[in-house]
Amino acid sequence: MTAPIKILITRRWPAQVEAQLQQNYQVTLNKTDQPLTKEQLKSALQHYDAICPTVCDSLPAEIFNISEIRCKILGNFGVGYNHIDLQAAKAAGITVTNTPDVLTESTADIAMTLLLMSARRGAEGDRLVRAGEWTGWCPTHMMSSDVTGATLGIIGFGRIGQAMARKAHFGFQMPIIYHHPRQINNQLTEITQAYYCETLAELMQKSDFVSLHCPGGIKTRHLINAETLSWMKSTAHLINTARGDVVDSQALIQHLRLNKIAGAGLDVYENEPNLNRQFLTLHNVTLLPHLGSATIATRTAMGLKVLDNLADFFAGKMPKNRVI
Ligand code: DGY
Repeated sequence: MTAPIKILITRRWPAQVEAQLQQNYQVTLNKTDQPLTKEQLKSALQHYDAICPTVCDSLPAEIFNISEIRCKILGNFGVGYNHIDLQAAKAAGITVTNTPDVLTESTADIAMTLLLMSARRGAEGDRLVRAGEWTGWCPTHMMSSDVTGATLGIIGFGRIGQAMARKAHFGFQMPIIYHHPRQINNQLTEITQAYYCETLAELMQKSDFVSLHCPGGIKTRHLINAETLSWMKSTAHLINTARGDVVDSQALIQHLRLNKIAGAGLDVYENEPNLNRQFLTLHNVTLLPHLGSATIATRTAMGLKVLDNLADFFAGKMPKNRVI
């Protein structure tokens, strides 16, 4: 008789997916839904065949620096994997998979939500009404920036960046410009006539809205900093649904405080969920709690994708979404 495959799910998942997992494996669920500590993650590596982490589980190199690792696969629930040290996982003989595609549209929807909210001062207006401070319609009250026809600059023109381009261009007639490691030539760039900015400076200078869709990690850490922010128009908005550490928070706070840019819409932060408290004092920033993929359908599809990857792996096949 072969031993059952032991799997650890580090956070609560949609009920349908948890139920399906339990049919196929010996599963430990995290009923408290509290993020695991480093020690718990190390112990899990020694006691489970598979661990299914999320963006909240930091797995740096030191975590893998232990003896008797049993874990063979990290089935990440999420497309981004900058919270996992891939080289260390590989050296420990662990496969890593992720969940691309299924969250593309919902994440781009949140970027568009933030763009609209930041441009039209949506969160600020909501706060004003709730505080009972609205004194009535007035021709100069809370005037804001137009979205339709404004230029959208996209940094990182992968799946989510391109979905954002589609929504903005076809929904709001926005001219699209983008910055990416290489020029992209496909049907979308042809139909939208998306313009490739070889340099970040060109994109920052030309955009009315800058939306970040690049991966997190060492290569993009603080790509948006005091210098690159200074290239933006004073009327422009920055939207971040990628990863918090792509933006130097302190530099952004300074730019917003001095009205050097018009606004920002953020879904992700450095050191989540302990974001820099100074953001809370600014009227011109819209803050969401990392909701990019948070629709019922998307989160369920993400879980089912992890299941597919695990099924392939334990059947001896190459998982479709293998990262390493
Ligand atoms: C991802 O998939 O990387 C998201 O940020 C988590 O929802």
